Amino acid sequence: MPLAHILGIETSCDETAAAVVRAGEKIVSNVVFSQIATHQPYGGVVPELASREHLRAIVPVVRKALADAGQSYQSVDALAVTQGPGLAGALLVGISYAKALAFALDKPLIAVNHLEGHIHAVLLEERQKGNHEVNFPVLALVVSGGHTHLYLAEQRADAWSYENIGHTRDDAAGEAFDKVAKLLGLGYPGGPVIDQLSPHGDPTAVKFPPSQIKHPDRRKKGKVSEPEDRPRFDFSYSGIKTAVLRYVETHNLQAAIEARRRALAASPKPKTEDYLAHTDKQVQDLVASFQRAMVEDLVGKTLAAAQAYDIATLFVTGGVAANHELRQRFERDAAMQGLPVYFPSRPLSTDNAAMIAAAAYPKLLAGDFAPMDFSAEAGMALR
Ligand code: KG4
Ligand code: ZN
Repeated sequence: MPLAHILGIETSCDETAAAVVRAGEKIVSNVVFSQIATHQPYGGVVPELASREHLRAIVPVVRKALADAGQSYQSVDALAVTQGPGLAGALLVGISYAKALAFALDKPLIAVNHLEGHIHAVLLEERQKGNHEVNFPVLALVVSGGHTHLYLAEQRADAWSYENIGHTRDDAAGEAFDKVAKLLGLGYPGGPVIDQLSPHGDPTAVKFPPSQIKHPDRRKKGKVSEPEDRPRFDFSYSGIKTAVLRYVETHNLQAAIEARRRALAASPKPKTEDYLAHTDKQVQDLVASFQRAMVEDLVGKTLAAAQAYDIATLFVTGGVAANHELRQRFERDAAMQGLPVYFPSRPLSTDNAAMIAAAAYPKLLAGDFAPMDFSAEAGMALR
């Protein structure tokens, strides 16, 4: 099916999304319904509310994706849905709906790992731009609210395989952005707010110690050829979050934070000017220093891994890949290493269904379909 149209459905967290993608390389439609407004008052995603909102949104979102694409339920060639990782109740809404559609329409159904989707968002857009030449081995940093993972990606015929060579030992990078923003009364989600505020502060004002991670010495075993003996590049972000909390306590910022939280909660959609009006130089410096420390850690570890594994191409994807400073730093430092680095566009960095439909295309070609009894896998690993 060389020009197959796949309808992708994504409901793993707080976005209800559907998209039609042709042959893994052309976005024909891409609809994302964000639940941010529902979760905002709670400062994070509330799983029960996420499931309820997905139930409300799934039918209109899929209908709109088909209408925008000039397609119908009958005309698409296959369906694809996120199986995991994610919130079990949220995943089940997408999976149940996709199964019912596939059964009623007698169409093939493909189950996709959400993390593989983030990686294929990069490939989809490169192909859409006409770049069909990606050199292997590829290293992919998937960095979002739930994940901070480094994968070596290989392609043989139509099958993709992945080896995890690093992950976070505690908080994901996006989670650290969200928790620090919440701690400072800046609202939810934190990444975009910290991204907007950081250029207004001094990133060298507050020093955060680099995260220290002990990797067991894998060479002692004397069999370096085994995958478990290869070097690892893990991350840790709970320390920096605690360091920000300690800064808040020692500098007595609590009262100002409470006032800011109340002021920003009263504004339905705060803009950069609103954040600036409700933060002083000290908080802007703190935020800029936090972002600088996060960016240096992510870029430093990823490029060290790229060198250790002699990587030909680097992908940086997931919600945090939307961050301006992270992109600039990766572009500058990867160029110094002579390493090509690709990002998705900002709309395709955060959760969407186009990436799910794109990741499903090689599986469609390989006839890798989901059995009708498959279910959500909240902690699904990528291999
Ligand atoms: O990929 P995504 O939409 O959902 C998950 O799979 O987690 O990522 C959402 C995460 C949130 O933690 C959000 O704060 C972060 O991505 N994020 C950012 C930016 N935009 C979104 N972090 C830093 N800078 C940004 N511009
Ligand atoms: Zn995601």
